[in-house]
Amino acid sequence: MAARVPSAERGARAPSAQRPGHALSREFYCDAELFEREVRRLILRHWHCVGHHSQIPEPGDFFTTSFCGEPLLIVRGQDREVRALLNVCRHRGSRVCTQESGHARGGVFVCPYHAWSYGLDGRLRAARHMPDEFDRAAHGLKRFHTRIIEGLILVSFADSPLGLEHVEAALAGSARAYGWAEAQVAHREIYRVQANWKLAVENYMECYHCGPAHEEYSRFHLYARPAPLNRAADERVRARARELGVELREVDFFALNARPGQEAADSARSALGEGAVSGSEDGRPLAPLMGQFSDYDGGMTFFDVGLTSNFLAYPDHGLIYRFVPNSVQSTDMEVIWLVRGDARAGADYDVGRLTWLWKVTSLADKRIIEVNQQGVNSRFYEPGPYTPMEQHTRRFVEWILAELQ
Ligand code: FES
Ligand SMILES: [Fe+2]
Repeated sequence: MAARVPSAERGARAPSAQRPGHALSREFYCDAELFEREVRRLILRHWHCVGHHSQIPEPGDFFTTSFCGEPLLIVRGQDREVRALLNVCRHRGSRVCTQESGHARGGVFVCPYHAWSYGLDGRLRAARHMPDEFDRAAHGLKRFHTRIIEGLILVSFADSPLGLEHVEAALAGSARAYGWAEAQVAHREIYRVQANWKLAVENYMECYHCGPAHEEYSRFHLYARPAPLNRAADERVRARARELGVELREVDFFALNARPGQEAADSARSALGEGAVSGSEDGRPLAPLMGQFSDYDGGMTFFDVGLTSNFLAYPDHGLIYRFVPNSVQSTDMEVIWLVRGDARAGADYDVGRLTWLWKVTSLADKRIIEVNQQGVNSRFYEPGPYTPMEQHTRRFVEWILAELQ
């Protein structure tokens, strides 16, 4: 029997043509033009976490990164402000800083091409042999809106960025209790995934796949089970956190809380299995307790900001989980492990033990996301229905469709 003409080929390009309660159609994962539209109309309008402020503690400290192909230079100025500068020279467009991270000697960045030099705030300091009338003030590095909330460096590429009130409230009820403003980076890892960014985020948003794909995670994280089974355990960790005087507040899923003109954020608590207190191989502690925690509460907190920035907090360590779209079928997942600011590697924690769980989990995710992409590349792929365990993914997708319309 001849196969029917695939639905994706029948021009389901418009977001409104998507079938409610079903996965997105092929072009959302395969069409380079649609990806470009998403970048311009959706992704760059939002706030994105690029790292933690402990990565650049002193004036002159910097790191470089990129987002949707935009090269960024994140630098702490003499005034201690953290700025996100476009790492593109105002002369003929060379990258200015070619190092991954470091300290700007003499407080300047010198372009490797013709040596125009820029201050830590991006202002053009010197341009060789330029005529007297050349307006230096008009040729500083482009700068994007930057905010630090609870130690997280957030960047928006928009001219008038979305408000951050909702984000501040969500992080005050989550990251703050875990002392993230006083944390330090213990380790970073980047996983390049040959898949569309939405497949990567959609995968992060559901734990329907955790049973089959993450034996290690599922051992101690009750989130891997259907929600109704966890109610009593989740309630127990909430009560325990209250006993410990930890100020945690849950904020309903971001898509429902996003107000017009405001960036979206959410936070949710989840219980660990019997006897487990942290995200380790054996459920045992990994590092010194953080923030308001004087003891373990047997739980963890997920929180999320905008489209691409996700976070997990255990009482003794945390993770920044960043999704960085590169192109229509390339996405970086950057995982940044946080520990208490005064914890010493080797003495207070072991990096191998600390990172074990989320390394195996991220590698497994990379594998299943890439296999997902290979499947949806088929012209005959037809989106199927979401299950009750994929409701966050469903809402995420609905949110994106609404914003694209
Ligand atoms: S491109 Fe940077 S100085 Fe010429
Ligand atoms: Fe996963």
